[in-house]
Amino acid sequence: MSLVDPGDAGALTDSLRAGFADHYGEPPTVVGRAPGRVNLIGEHTDYNAGLVLPVALPHATYAAARARGDDLVRVASRQQDEAWEGSLGELGPDAVAGWAGYAAGVVWTLREAGHDVPGVDLLVDSRVPVGSGLSSSAALECSVGIALLSLVGADPVEHAHTLMDAAIRAETEVVGAPTGGMDQTVAVHASEGAALLIDFESDERTVVPLDLAGHTLLVTDTRVSHALTDGGYGARRADCEAAARELGVPSLRRADLEGVEALGDERVRRRARHVVTEIARVPQTVAALRDSRWDEVGSIFDASHRSMRDDFEISCPELDCAVAIAVQAGAVAARMTGGGFGGSSVAVVPDERVDAVVRAVDAAFVLEGFRAPQHLRAVPSGGASVEG
Ligand code: GLA
Repeated sequence: MSLVDPGDAGALTDSLRAGFADHYGEPPTVVGRAPGRVNLIGEHTDYNAGLVLPVALPHATYAAARARGDDLVRVASRQQDEAWEGSLGELGPDAVAGWAGYAAGVVWTLREAGHDVPGVDLLVDSRVPVGSGLSSSAALECSVGIALLSLVGADPVEHAHTLMDAAIRAETEVVGAPTGGMDQTVAVHASEGAALLIDFESDERTVVPLDLAGHTLLVTDTRVSHALTDGGYGARRADCEAAARELGVPSLRRADLEGVEALGDERVRRRARHVVTEIARVPQTVAALRDSRWDEVGSIFDASHRSMRDDFEISCPELDCAVAIAVQAGAVAARMTGGGFGGSSVAVVPDERVDAVVRAVDAAFVLEGFRAPQHLRAVPSGGASVEG
């Protein structure tokens, strides 16, 4: 059974340092690291002032940086063919296309936040599968951001809020993905061995220790690529905002099901129903996980998946298949996770059933004629850090 390997942070850092020296002719002065994430429950609730419960993955993005003596910014990746270079003055919303926009975007947002980020050379390397709904973009933004903060002598712990904010603004203002902030928040604030309960109304974050008692969080990447800039995500967000307006509430966090069921437009009603019921599922999941009530976690994940499939309409045949087959093969709970329109599912699987679940999902994908999926173990990991 092959699972996507997160690699060893020390070895990846050393190899990136060497790669940087080869590429730019001098070694980097700092390497930043930030993880991808898998969300356990609370989907499309962050931009509705709701609750989410993500876990940081051991799979991370690493960004090596070295300040330059001029105002040039050079960005390259070990995973991407195109590099980008331009001057500090060129940066800003929509200035840099493609993957490099996320990295160059953080140079701009940190400068906007008052940090004197100089011209810089950057090289990134990532173990977070791209386009898989596991937050490869937030991992990129936060790894670059923490490297840059360290480069200008700002303590990353003291400036955690600046880092999170700069990463969020790079994604929403520079790249133009209308996302809600969950991914960057967990990439910065995650703790090892725990999930992070985030309340987007009060801005409160609570560390929720996870005792999985012989279970594995198994992520299946369907390899159906998902993009959050192509309209589907933004349309869902617009429907939620329309529902809140019609209900006369500041956000769907303040809506109740009775009001939602009376909404005039059938589609908007279903979108809002997903959000209101999904927010209620978050504290239920926290309690069920705390008491190892796996059957209940299973029913909640099942209700969440149906809600995303039928009411929010963000699932796809590959995700539905991965979820159904995981449960058939012994997972106690499974649902799609992340933004949707492809991407990944997450399952809670008794350790001794992991192999069987992986095989069953792989076989079902062959039978259905789907592209081969890939799987990874979501060992709850820590947030962004500066490496060695
Ligand atoms: C993407 C976005 C997040 C969140 C999720 C759905 O990952 O970046 O802000 O909205 O989708 O829960």
